[in-house]
Amino acid sequence: MNFIIHVRDGLELRRRVEADAEVVFQVIDKNRYYLKQWLPWLDDTKTVEDIRKYIQNDIVEFEKKEGCDFGIWYEGQWIGGIGLSSFGTKDRKTSIGYWLAEDFQGKGIMTDCVRTLVNYSFEQLNINRIVIRCAVENSKSRAITQRLGFKEEGVLRQSEWLYDHFVDLVIYSLLREEWSQKK
Ligand SMILES: CC(C)(COP(=O)(O)OP(=O)(O)OC[C@H]1O[C@@H](n2cnc3c(N)ncnc32)[C@H](O)[C@@H]1OP(=O)(O)O)[C@@H](O)C(=O)NCCC(=O)NCCS
Repeated sequence: MNFIIHVRDGLELRRRVEADAEVVFQVIDKNRYYLKQWLPWLDDTKTVEDIRKYIQNDIVEFEKKEGCDFGIWYEGQWIGGIGLSSFGTKDRKTSIGYWLAEDFQGKGIMTDCVRTLVNYSFEQLNINRIVIRCAVENSKSRAITQRLGFKEEGVLRQSEWLYDHFVDLVIYSLLREEWSQKK
């Protein structure tokens, strides 16, 4: 399915389609070194074909409610990604992951995108609990969860393998009732 979620003027989330593969690859390739600091999947995206397969897989996962990825479009440019993990279980929970091209940091773009996807998850997908996991030292990502009122639950020790070392992840969550109260 192909749909668009409006974030603010000039900023929207669009479900990825196969035709995006080339531009997605160019942005990832340009930002590869910077993204590798915190994301584990860069070595799986070495060609446009890798991205195309990833998008095809996401379309299948979406149909099964096992995931949902969006491209972030800012003033007509593709500048990053944001997505939900499984969102269709009886527990009504999901998690959010995201990344932005290096040149577009520092403008509040991701905070607005995460806020929008949180709203969408609670209001359109009937989610009850949203989780974000960040490496303990990833202060920029942790700041997003804090701006949006996620609660810190604890540290998952050595929870992610990043190429040549393990990192500890802080787990944050936000409940539907907390979000409604905030609004
Ligand atoms: C994590 C990541 C998305 C954070 O990007 P970011 O630009 O810091 O986040 P935002 O787009 O929300 O912008 C926040 C910044 O814009 C500033 N800002 C400007 N206007 C703003 C606004 N209206 N609202 C919020 N922040 C605003 C904030 O002060 C902050 O800057 P600071 O860090 O200098 O204080 C980015 O660093 C990234 O993609 N990193 C690599 C991948 C990664 O780590 N992904 C997350 C894995 S858990």
